[in-house]
Amino acid sequence: MTAARGGAVVTGAGRGLGKQTADLLARRGHHVLVTDLDAELAAATAAEIGSQATPMALDVRDADQVQAAADRIVEIAGGLDVWVNNAGVLITGEAWTQDPSAHRLMLEVNALGTIHGTVAAITTMRKAAGGGHVVNIASLAGLTPVPGEAVYAASKHAAIGFSLSTVADLRLAGIDDIDISCICPDGIWTPMLYDKLDDPASALSFSGKLLSPEEVVAAVGKVLDAPREITSLPKWRGAQARVGAASPRVGRALMPLIIKAARRKQRKIKDRIRSETV
Ligand SMILES: NC(=O)c1ccc[n+]([C@@H]2O[C@H](COP(=O)([O-])OP(=O)(O)OC[C@H]3O[C@@H](n4cnc5c(N)ncnc54)[C@H](O)[C@@H]3O)[C@@H](O)[C@H]2O)c1
Repeated sequence: MTAARGGAVVTGAGRGLGKQTADLLARRGHHVLVTDLDAELAAATAAEIGSQATPMALDVRDADQVQAAADRIVEIAGGLDVWVNNAGVLITGEAWTQDPSAHRLMLEVNALGTIHGTVAAITTMRKAAGGGHVVNIASLAGLTPVPGEAVYAASKHAAIGFSLSTVADLRLAGIDDIDISCICPDGIWTPMLYDKLDDPASALSFSGKLLSPEEVVAAVGKVLDAPREITSLPKWRGAQARVGAASPRVGRALMPLIIKAARRKQRKIKDRIRSETV
């Protein structure tokens, strides 16, 4: 535990990566506003963390609710040091097989929610001296084409493009004390993937190293100590993703092999989990 710091906000913190990120921030000495669309999950997470956390129901698609969360943490902690845009939704399948409401949901939560959170954080941090740090949980899907997850990939590309452009805007405006760091993980073993083990469209989420939430939270801790615009996890998968993005034809030619290997991994994980639960 470090010395007391100002407030922090985490979106989508009721479970998965957000829950563990909220816990990390509390251990680093922040008072954490644990927010989630699901009020009960937010309350349970905050109760587990203890006196360093306050729960709040928050739908990141609503800019007014997001600004209200920023105002609330200032009321509680006297300021805002860190804002983590973590809330996310993944619905797999080819875009043309999905309902337009699925497209809208992913873009609104993953892209617009990140924009709302970043803007509320910057507005609030600029009102006080000392600046702050926005951490945007993106994905490797924001760096490369991901068949089976096209709209999700679009939403994460949007989140990264927005973050990098906004850092440039901040610096051009002479604002040097607010940082934005994007974390781009490979598949993470969280509830987001628990129901995807039988889903061929999500194979690429299992094509590399399936990360534990703890590994990703450690990366969040690292960027909090040393802001970094893009952190890919693992690093080699980030390099692979960038090659795929730079040469889409090569990427597409290799895709059937990559998907076949990923499906094998997906089945292996399913078998292992089944054997652990019987
Ligand atoms: N799990 C993965 O494989 C993986 C890989 C790369 C990136 N990510 C990203 O990591 C982040 C965390 O995902 P996770 O794996 O913990 O997923 P998760 O599904 O376990 O948790 C997501 C949380 O977001 C909340 N949420 C959903 N819609 C919301 C909304 N409109 N407003 C506020 N909260 C909302 C959910 O209630 C849930 O608690 C997401 O941005 C996700 O895209 C996940």
